Amino acid sequence: MGQHAQPAADSFARATGLLAEFERHDRSRDKTGTAVADTAGMSRQAALDTCKYPGMYAPALAAILDAGAEETDRGLRFLHLGANHGTFCRFLQDLPGMRLSAALDLDLDALRRGRTWQLRDAILADAVSLAALRAGSLDLLLAESLYVPNYWRPPQIAGGLDAAACVLRDDGLLLVQEWGFDFSRGFAAALAVAGLRERRRITGPAETQQGVRHVTCFVYGKGEKCSPPAGRA
Ligand SMILES: C[S@@+](CC[C@H](N)C(=O)[O-])C[C@H]1O[C@@H](n2cnc3c(N)ncnc32)[C@H](O)[C@@H]1O
Repeated sequence: MGQHAQPAADSFARATGLLAEFERHDRSRDKTGTAVADTAGMSRQAALDTCKYPGMYAPALAAILDAGAEETDRGLRFLHLGANHGTFCRFLQDLPGMRLSAALDLDLDALRRGRTWQLRDAILADAVSLAALRAGSLDLLLAESLYVPNYWRPPQIAGGLDAAACVLRDDGLLLVQEWGFDFSRGFAAALAVAGLRERRRITGPAETQQGVRHVTCFVYGKGEKCSPPAGRA
């Protein structure tokens, strides 16, 4: 599909509905509200990062549905970078097309919290280097509000993009979900160095930590073969 193709309206609507239903059954807001209220000494940033709800991921889910997440035995391997307690992974892990739906974060408490809420796969690791992961082992990677200029420095974002390209299969997709800025434009040089090319983007209204916004999932494929850095097998 060409760059800037039409948004997948059907997939986005389905994604929004599925996530709303999951959020209701899962009582996701009660869970996170209780976690933030109960945890003495949680920093302001940690409390903010805990307040992640399934509905926030509708643009990314639209792309994942289009990749076959609802097709039985599709065998997709998905990793969410900076997933905190992995609320989105808990939703995805039961879809018939998913073989792996893993949450990666540096915050051990957040991953432990996710595990108590039945998150199956949690990885304590750095999303910049992704050194814990094998090259060419994943179909889908999601970075949501992670490659943000005032959150990470540009060299970290460039390093993260390189690492993401390496751990994806040749036909794998990197999903970068952001709002308020054009990631492809802002990081054109780093994306080119990493060999990542925009395939499409999906934009729609979704909840963010600042209220409902037009949120975009930028979908990148590997334009050229990526050679794993030394030491990554
Ligand atoms: C996805 S970011 C989003 C932050 C916030 N929404 C914003 O836009 O400023 C938050 C999560 O990323 C995790 N995180 C930050 N740096 C990381 C790194 N280098 N490796 C893995 N996880 C990281 C944090 O622990 C936290 O759970």
